[in-house]
Amino acid sequence: MILIISGTNRPNSKTLKIAKCYQQLLDRKSVENDLFSLSDLPPNILETDLYGKRSPEFGPIQQKVSDADMFIFIAPEYNGSIPGALKLFIDCCSFPSSFYHKKVALVGLSSGRYGNLRGIDHLTGICHYLRMHVLPLKIFLPNVQNELNEDGELFKEDTMQFITEQIEEIVRF
Ligand SMILES: Cc1cc2nc3c(=O)[nH]c(=O)nc-3n(C[C@H](O)[C@H](O)[C@H](O)COP(=O)(O)O)c2cc1C
Repeated sequence: MILIISGTNRPNSKTLKIAKCYQQLLDRKSVENDLFSLSDLPPNILETDLYGKRSPEFGPIQQKVSDADMFIFIAPEYNGSIPGALKLFIDCCSFPSSFYHKKVALVGLSSGRYGNLRGIDHLTGICHYLRMHVLPLKIFLPNVQNELNEDGELFKEDTMQFITEQIEEIVRF
């Protein structure tokens, strides 16, 4: 099962829209998947789910993570890296069983011109620390505001081509 992680808790994020596009593409290929948005994290997660503590709200989220054998992390660029919420989420998950030796594909996006290139490098380092197998083909979506139509869907032909190529590699990975 592939778990898509929408890597920010910002309301109305473009990240979630991109994550939903990935989910549609996996659905079209009948690939078993689920989507978790960090906007659905428990609000007091700093107090309730770090350092071995576990709230009833995080239990089902941990279960989704435990059930996945591959992840797609969609990570927006916040101050030149991944959002703190994404690192916090990773830190809250059970270690090492949540991520060890599992597969992961990475997608970066930003309103600026780099598409979170540096943040995806940071995230690659974290994933390697967690002994994950990182798909070499990573997708970067700079100027993401120009990538989505009024319905919040990706519409550019060249972007769709790159993403479709990544989806095909994800399925083969
Ligand atoms: C706290 C914060 C920091 C940000 N830092 C950057 C940045 O360093 N570079 C950049 O290109 N965009 C930056 N942005 C803009 C995001 O790239 C933009 O919000 C984009 O739409 C993707 O994020 P979203 O999923 O929150 O919409 C930042 C946004 C926030 C909320």
